Amino acid sequence: MLHFAILFCLLVASANASVQDFCVADLKAPQGPAGYSCKSPTKVTAKDFVFSGLVGAGNTSNIIKAAVTPAFDAQFPGVNGLGLSMARLDLAPKGVVPMHTHPGASEILVVTQGSITAGFISSSDNKVYTATLKKGEVMVFPQGLLHFQINAAGVTSVALVTFSSPNPGLQILDFALFANDLPTDLVSKTTFLDPALIKTLKGVLGGTN
Ligand SMILES: *[C@@H]1O[C@H](CO)[C@@H](O)[C@H](O)[C@H]1NC(C)=O
Repeated sequence: MLHFAILFCLLVASANASVQDFCVADLKAPQGPAGYSCKSPTKVTAKDFVFSGLVGAGNTSNIIKAAVTPAFDAQFPGVNGLGLSMARLDLAPKGVVPMHTHPGASEILVVTQGSITAGFISSSDNKVYTATLKKGEVMVFPQGLLHFQINAAGVTSVALVTFSSPNPGLQILDFALFANDLPTDLVSKTTFLDPALIKTLKGVLGGTN
């Protein structure tokens, strides 16, 4: 009998413990470093935990012939606070996701169609780790490191990626250098690139100065 009493007390204690099952993003509230505030649990429905935006192909009619469709906390409120998110990557023939980093997350990629050449560069010694992946193969990209994906097939290739953060962030190297108003002279001095090349890339990517 005593054992039952103890068990009962434990069950009551665990039921009362303030474990929060989820924190569906309240997208109308401000976003802090830890993510969004929680939507009132009484307003949460199954729809908050389902995202249909990765069903269809992204639009690859662009300069990089690629589309990244995010399922981050801003698009998929159910992942808020859970430490993970996803995206879909569509690469038309010759498509490329240019050299970029996610400051806030490691990434794991699975090829679901076609073939993709991917790689990353270590920060410690700038060593390159690259591989060509076929359908079903997976590659992991450690947090914060520069990496890229290129279509390695003559047809459209597709991958699903998972991030270790609901808000992984994204910085594309060429956009940082050539898609803003950082003067060509400063870009040249800080990258050792030829000013004529910088002007050309600024023209292509919409940069000025
Ligand atoms: C894809 O994007 C291009 C360029 O922005 C646009 O012209 C085209 O209508 C888009 N296609 C679809 C199916 O949305």
